[in-house]
Amino acid sequence: MANVNREILTLDEFTIREMRAFPQATGELASLLRDIGLAAKRVNVEVNKAGLVDILGDTGEINVQGEEVKKMDEYANNQLTGVLRHGISCAGIASEELDDFVVFEDEISKNSKYVCMYDPLDGSSNIDVNVSIGTIFSVYRRKTERGTCVTQEDFLQAGSRQVAAGYIIYGSSTILVYATKRGVNGFTLDPAIGEFCLSHPDIKCPPDGKIYSVNHGNFFGYSTQVKKYIDLCQHKEKSNGGPYTQRYIGSMVSDVHRNLLKGGIFMYPGTIDKPQGKLRLLYECNPFAFIVERAGGTATDGKMRILEKEPQTLHERTPFFIGSKNMMQELEQYLKETIKG
Ligand code: AHG
Ligand code: MN
Ligand code: MN
Repeated sequence: MANVNREILTLDEFTIREMRAFPQATGELASLLRDIGLAAKRVNVEVNKAGLVDILGDTGEINVQGEEVKKMDEYANNQLTGVLRHGISCAGIASEELDDFVVFEDEISKNSKYVCMYDPLDGSSNIDVNVSIGTIFSVYRRKTERGTCVTQEDFLQAGSRQVAAGYIIYGSSTILVYATKRGVNGFTLDPAIGEFCLSHPDIKCPPDGKIYSVNHGNFFGYSTQVKKYIDLCQHKEKSNGGPYTQRYIGSMVSDVHRNLLKGGIFMYPGTIDKPQGKLRLLYECNPFAFIVERAGGTATDGKMRILEKEPQTLHERTPFFIGSKNMMQELEQYLKETIKG
C-alpha cells in the first residue's frame, strides 16, 4: 500500500487553516474555493477524456467576444456557474462566455458576500491538440448591500480590490494555484483521492528570469518600443546572461504559470489593428496581475498598473505585460522611450 503523507494539507484543510488566522472570518471564502475546486475536478475529468467522447470541436456558436465557442468552453462555464449558484458564498458571476453578468436570486445567494468572474477555459483552441489549457477566476467582495441582488457596480471594480484570484491548469498534472493577500499557494490534484494537495507553498516569482513570451507573428503590428524591447531580448550581451529564451504556448495560463515559477516575462501588446490587444481585463489580466504581484512580480498595460485600471465594461480588453520584477523594470524603460518619442 502506498504511504500516505498526512503532513500534506488538502485544499480544504489549507483554506480552513488560513481562515482561522482571522477571527472575524465567516468561512465563505473557504467554501467558495471548495466550490471552484469541485468544478475544476469535473472539468479535469472531461478534459482528460476529450479525445474519446464527442466534446471536441465547436458548438457552432460565436461568443460575445466574437470567437467560436468550443464545446468544452460551454461545459466548463456550466460547471463553474453551477457550483457557484448552488454554493453559499456567491451572489452572482460574470464569465467570458456570457454576454452579461448573472444574478443569483435565491435568498441564500442574495445574502452572500462575494461575486466571482472567470474565463472558464483559457487556451481552448489548443484542446484538440493536447496542449495544456486552464481556468482563471477572480473573487471580489460585493459593493451592494447583502440581501439585495448584485448589480453591474459589483463587477466593475478595480483589480486591486480582489479578495482572491487563481487558476487551474489541466496539464501533465492538474494544479490549482490561488492567491489572497496572505500569499500564493499551489495544489496538485492527487487522482488517487480526488483532492487538491498543497504542493507549492508560498510561491515567489524570481525577480530575474531568462524567458520572454510573446506572439512573434504579430511583431510588425507592435509599437516601435515593444519591437525594440523584443530586439533586446534576442540580442542580450553574453556578459549580461546572453539572449533570453522565447517560449510561447498560446495558452496564457500555462505561459504565465511557467514564468511565475521560473522567472520570465509574458506580453500581449496592442497592435496597429487591435490597439487593446486580445486579453480581457476582468477575466484574464486582473486575476493574473493579482497573483503575480502577490508573488513579487508586476503587471502593467504598458502605461499603468493593471490592478489600478477602472473597468468600464465587462468584456473590455487591455494590452498586458506581466512577470519578474527586474525584467518588467527593464521593459518599462523601453516603453517610456516610446512614449517620449
Ligand atoms: P481563450 O481561449 O480564453 O480565448 O484565450 C486564449 C488567449 C490566451 O490564453 C493566449 O495567451 C492567447 O489567447 C493567445 O493568442 P494568440 O494566438 O493571438 O497569440
Ligand atoms: Mn482566455
Ligand atoms: Mn476562454
